[in-house]
Amino acid sequence: MSQHTIVTMPGDGIGKIVLPEALRVLDEVGFRAEYVHADIGWEFWCREGNALPRRTLDLLTEHRVGLFGAITSKPKEEAAAELAPELRGKGHVYYSPIVGLRQHFDLQLCIRPCRTFPGNPLNFIRRRGEGFEEPEVDVVIFRQNTQGLYSGVEWTNPPDEVRRALETHPKMAAYRDVPSEDLAVSCRIFTRDACLTICRAAFEYAEKHGYRSVTICEKPNVIRETSGMMGAAAREVKADHPDIDLWFTNIDAQMMWLTKNPEDYGVMVAGNMFGDIISDGFAGLTGGLGFACSANVGRDCAVFEPTHGSAPKYASYATSIVNPIAMILSACLMLDHLDESDKAAAVRKAIAEVIAEGKVRTYDMMKMTGRPDVLERGAASTKQMTDAIIERL
Ligand code: NAI
Ligand code: MG
Repeated sequence: MSQHTIVTMPGDGIGKIVLPEALRVLDEVGFRAEYVHADIGWEFWCREGNALPRRTLDLLTEHRVGLFGAITSKPKEEAAAELAPELRGKGHVYYSPIVGLRQHFDLQLCIRPCRTFPGNPLNFIRRRGEGFEEPEVDVVIFRQNTQGLYSGVEWTNPPDEVRRALETHPKMAAYRDVPSEDLAVSCRIFTRDACLTICRAAFEYAEKHGYRSVTICEKPNVIRETSGMMGAAAREVKADHPDIDLWFTNIDAQMMWLTKNPEDYGVMVAGNMFGDIISDGFAGLTGGLGFACSANVGRDCAVFEPTHGSAPKYASYATSIVNPIAMILSACLMLDHLDESDKAAAVRKAIAEVIAEGKVRTYDMMKMTGRPDVLERGAASTKQMTDAIIERL
């Protein structure tokens, strides 16, 4: 039996609660691994001036697979105020450690499956005639994770040389009279290599998992250069996959179609920002943050995490009420990545059975406001949900 070493990064808030729950499930399904803890998150910003310490990067470089909970990020002024007094004024700048991880390890692909679990009361329903129908969504989003509008190449009050370079473009004439200090510029940067990489990964995934189509969701009619480059890459890759259909949608229309015909989509590809938007949109149809899982995959390293954040106000409850399923499904993506797909399938089946049976539901599944009293009102705790999944296994 292969022995894996997994770098565990619980992070902040409910990250510390849900990650150990996923480990209980992994253990139960017979996944044998050594877990190495790594520091990440707010407390390391406050204490060390770095939310993503070098030692954590070193562990990931060595072991190449990480399981991540969630972190807390706070605005600039708050970040500065919470820094240890001896570190203040030394040029420390807060930077989101998850964005940092993606950039450092070039985790180019963000893969976010959004699948309906039958029986989940949070599933999207659609009116039809006198009644309602519940379309079964099975979409896997491939979001470019490192470039686009999240590349960080941006300025308010751009330096003169940047302004001069921009003004070589005729469309900048519209801003000729705007003083630089009143000008903010964020660059949307795509590379052909990254476009080809994500399109190839998407088509290969579609082929391997039996999806009929790959949809590129961009806006090439307006954002002609970057969206255009993604489209060209998709056409190039499509030539090697004659059996998979290639569709194109525009991000704005896609958001409208999201609720009209979500069951028609299979694998989707988008740049960083549009990928972020459609994955939240599709996640909303399939249970929301308690169910939304993700994989960040690069050539030499991969990190698996729920989409939700650290939900700080829920972290201090005596008995935790948050839904561990997003974290457990993220661990399933890790199992797939490590060629342990049979174990991943077993865990997903156990989750599906618990949901279909409908006896154990966390507060979000019961559409309650997340107060501690939800437990008296019939909601399952975090641990009870994990226990139910483990029992099914
Ligand atoms: P959040 O995702 O932490 O929580 C938003 C709301 O979603 C919660 O109040 C709760 O009602 C619900 N929720 C989240 N996870 C849930 C779960 N597992 N089960 C049931 N309900 C759940 O987002 P928020 O409140 O905007 O941010 C809180 C902190 O998390 C911030 O500091 C933010 O920067 C950070 N964050 C971190 C992310 C990451 O680590 N990748 C992603 C998003 C936010
Ligand atoms: Mg998001």
